[in-house]
Amino acid sequence: MIVEPAPAKLNLALHVRRRREDGYHELETLFAFVADGDVLSLAEAECDRFEIVGPFAGGLTPDGDNLVTRARDAFARDVAALPPLAITLDKRLPVASGIGGGSADAAAMLRAAARLADVVTDDPRLMAVAAALGSDVPACLLGRTAFGAGRGEDLRVVEGLAGRPVVLVNPNVAVPTAPVFGRWDGVDRGPLPGGDAWSVATLGRNDLFVPAKLIAPVIGEVVDALDRLDGAVLVRMSGSGATCFAVFNDPDACRAGAYAIRAAYPAWWCLETALV
Ligand code: C5P
Repeated sequence: MIVEPAPAKLNLALHVRRRREDGYHELETLFAFVADGDVLSLAEAECDRFEIVGPFAGGLTPDGDNLVTRARDAFARDVAALPPLAITLDKRLPVASGIGGGSADAAAMLRAAARLADVVTDDPRLMAVAAALGSDVPACLLGRTAFGAGRGEDLRVVEGLAGRPVVLVNPNVAVPTAPVFGRWDGVDRGPLPGGDAWSVATLGRNDLFVPAKLIAPVIGEVVDALDRLDGAVLVRMSGSGATCFAVFNDPDACRAGAYAIRAAYPAWWCLETALV
């Protein structure tokens, strides 16, 4: 049995620079990962099986469209043969929520497949498969703090953020990515600032915040609620939303912040975790 964690991804900053001919957008982003996420388990079996369990299993069907089975099939086709596998996805994170759920699950599948087939995780074929599965899958495969350019697949690792406490909050509204990009106003507000990772995070923006609020106005309330927490040093929406995060310097302030959010907004999903 292989147990492969699929840590949640955050975009600490996400600058949209331009719309491309192929319909994607040219980005500059700072990816980070947290200590919690979905969990994938795999065991050799008589035939391929895939099931989804866990608190957020309800929004998904384990059909051929799922990024996990697409990752399994793409690996078997383009990298190396796999034995029949019984795969269980424990879906602990909200879906369509800007924290990479499906992409992290696909990346976990690729990591597990690489282990099973004795392929090194920095094999270029693995990165190519990841990029074909989705813009965030290469970053999730890397699983480390990194600057991302292009669609998000052009990565450069940076250090310096591990251990910072963070609260993630989602108002239980699923927000699909494509319509959010579709509402971006086409204005280039400039590149990521220079400096170390923390300066880039704090001085950066999320250019998808305004378009995402057009689709789910409650995201504005989430950011306002996080902004009011004592000790929050960086509050922002991740990806195309609706999950927003607050980074703290002090773990006690982080715990108190999560407690305050749960008390005031019992219908919202709230996770106290840390950057890795
Ligand atoms: O790459 P992925 O399939 O995850 O992207 C989902 C959608 O998000 C794309 O179809 C596209 O509409 C939008 N997108 C974009 N520019 C990016 C990444 C995603 O426009 N860099």
